[in-house]
Amino acid sequence: TKVVFIEHDGTEHEVDAENGTNLMEAATKHLVPGIDADCGGACACATCMIYVPEEWAAKLPEKEDMEETMLDFCDHSKENSRLACQIEVTDALEGIRVSMPASQH
Ligand code: FES
Repeated sequence: TKVVFIEHDGTEHEVDAENGTNLMEAATKHLVPGIDADCGGACACATCMIYVPEEWAAKLPEKEDMEETMLDFCDHSKENSRLACQIEVTDALEGIRVSMPASQH
């Protein structure tokens, strides 16, 4: 599944993400800068935050409580923030474009 990660300075990284993994794993595996993932995907660090464009937000699975709570704690979170480690890669994500906050740099 093709996924595009956009750095805060506009640099784009298109990666081929494996279905069944998550967006954080896809980014780190392809060495995309801007996804720190300090906690390794446990939904406990919020350094894998991404911003999801509106047209994609509705197509993603709903946030679990834990993701919601982590995002609430984070200064840089916005309405369209998600944690990349909580989003599973499926065919439905083909072509999605997500961006990373400047703070993860
Ligand atoms: Fe830590 Fe996603 S990797 S919350």
